[in-house]
Amino acid sequence: MIDCYTKLSTTTTINTELLNLCNDGSAWIDPSIGTFCQKHPSMELIRSDPFLNWVCENYILYDFRTSVHIFMLRPWSHYQLHTDKFRSASINMLINPGADSISYFQTSEFYKLQCSITELQYEPLRYYLFNSRIPHAMTNRDSERYLLSISLKYDYATMKGLLADYSFLN
Ligand SMILES: [Fe+2]
Repeated sequence: MIDCYTKLSTTTTINTELLNLCNDGSAWIDPSIGTFCQKHPSMELIRSDPFLNWVCENYILYDFRTSVHIFMLRPWSHYQLHTDKFRSASINMLINPGADSISYFQTSEFYKLQCSITELQYEPLRYYLFNSRIPHAMTNRDSERYLLSISLKYDYATMKGLLADYSFLN
């Protein structure tokens, strides 16, 4: 079984504020490199969540601005299978889990055009460690999908060990 993601024991304390930021009418940054539309939550907001404060204190990939994002996937869109080139792991939390979307990893290839998938069904408020080096994709139906994603400086296995050491695994 490929280790695609890990559900953490901790949940967010700032989901209302993050959802308000998504819906406040401020502009989404539409990146020209073809990845997600995004917004940047403030450091004060992120650090008011005890778990995220711990992550930001020790394990973000770059500086705060380039490691902490809210990614928005537009309605009726598909983000194609890919691996993240700039990071190997992230902490993810789906801000609006009621959105009709599916997030999944490609876990094996049967035939030329068929593969098996492992879905990540995000629980409300729950943080996940995400293995960005496994091919993954998202498909969205009729509403926006908002994801908090924090790029980590160590690979998935290393971060999983650290999260276990600090009792953040179930
Ligand atoms: Fe990705």
